[in-house]
Amino acid sequence: MASLTVRKLDEAIKAYLRLRSAQNGRSVEEEVRVILREYVQGRPEPLSTLPAEMSAEPAWPENISTAEPRVTLIIGGGIAAYKSLDLIRRLKERHIRVRCVLTHAAQHFVTPLAASALSGERVHTDLFDPHSEFDAGHIRLARDCDLIVVAPATADLMSKMAQGAADDLASAVLLAATRPILLAPAMNPAMWSNAATRRNVAELERDGVALVGPNAGEMAEAGEAGTGRMAEPLEIVAAAERFLRPKKPGLLSGKRILITAGPTHEPIDPVRYIANRSSGKQGFAIAAAARAAGAEVVLVAGPVELDAPKGVSVVHVESARDMLRAVEAALPVDIAIFAAAVADWRVMSQGEQKLKKTDAAMPPLQLVENPDILATISHRAEGRPSLVIGFAAETEHLIDNAKSKLRRKGCDWIVANDVSPATGVMGGDRNTVHLLRRDGDTIGLDSWPVMTKEQVAVALVAEIARGVSERAESEPTT
Ligand code: C5P
Repeated sequence: MASLTVRKLDEAIKAYLRLRSAQNGRSVEEEVRVILREYVQGRPEPLSTLPAEMSAEPAWPENISTAEPRVTLIIGGGIAAYKSLDLIRRLKERHIRVRCVLTHAAQHFVTPLAASALSGERVHTDLFDPHSEFDAGHIRLARDCDLIVVAPATADLMSKMAQGAADDLASAVLLAATRPILLAPAMNPAMWSNAATRRNVAELERDGVALVGPNAGEMAEAGEAGTGRMAEPLEIVAAAERFLRPKKPGLLSGKRILITAGPTHEPIDPVRYIANRSSGKQGFAIAAAARAAGAEVVLVAGPVELDAPKGVSVVHVESARDMLRAVEAALPVDIAIFAAAVADWRVMSQGEQKLKKTDAAMPPLQLVENPDILATISHRAEGRPSLVIGFAAETEHLIDNAKSKLRRKGCDWIVANDVSPATGVMGGDRNTVHLLRRDGDTIGLDSWPVMTKEQVAVALVAEIARGVSERAESEPTT
């Protein structure tokens, strides 16, 4: 088998892969595998032509596929069975394959034809079906899936399960199961509260079977209410997805990240100030992406017109000196990203009152240098974040200026972007960036294609996560 080196792919393809993998919370290699699998599954022609007798019942893929997981849905005989047809639809909407087993009792409420039309698969009803049992089809139904859902799970079906009965297809599948089982019980409230059912439920829970519902409410029987209604299809789907697509911890969970964003305003007098055109969009997008990746995010923002990203605490500041104070107060952090366009200078002595226009000479504005927040934090002897990232917004000699900034400021990475007016980057929604990484005396350069600021943020967060995990791997364990 040929192997593929992601590093050697075109820059644009690498950038696309980075973005896609970050959005899906996968490694780049895993993403490539998913893309290849999707391509192969979506091919118009089959990979190989199987002999007719074998292709009647195609086998599902061996491995659990989070892209298209598989459910064996056992529909029991109760009035709630009509809701199971909607359940099939809801599962399919979420790209979950469904193969149905109908008990004999279920067929009084829904037809195998309806279940097979909705699932797009052959429906199974009989333990002694010669079409599927020639190779022990009930074992395949039990094992060749990622989850077995029983909806509605009737009192009778649960009683058989608790006792290990296997006298029909549904109970045989459940007895042969090696996959997790999720039951959605549905029955009359008196049956649900009956001591026998209580015993069976307790037994099944001890055996590791999961339950969703039943809910309280009105029953199909006129005038009856209580606990026994089957959970709604969407509740069952949500419970199923917890098995099929368990939430992966975010790429940056457990990390605390500090981000600066926006311009600073340097007062001249109580009503005037020096400012710049930064909108803060890129810094806010990075904060949102870092939060989405599970990080704890502190965003220190100059005056901007943006809403706080969900789950991010924003510290609002005006001037560069305020920003430095807020940044120092937020330490310690694991990672610091300085995306703010901090004013380099401030007026030495701010007027107490509004400066007046006079016939005499113009008021002299003597400027002094602001503290360099990025350099201050990068050069900290103690409590320096393990990864410090600066931005270089340039209008000429972009890469050369960014390289010297990287060395001068002492940070680890620089995100360089051309902010000449023609690019529309300042205040706009798109950005073309270059990532410069310092590695000892050498500097690596990665140029990304034009992307939205959100895409740049997601790709940067993915690079950070990769950098953090590479560092963790290279650190000696004690
Ligand atoms: O020197 P220049 O302003 O081009 O440097 C840009 C980088 O330095 C950005 O990351 C910016 O947030 C940071 N910076 C800073 N404090 C300053 C000036 C710039 O943190 N006073």
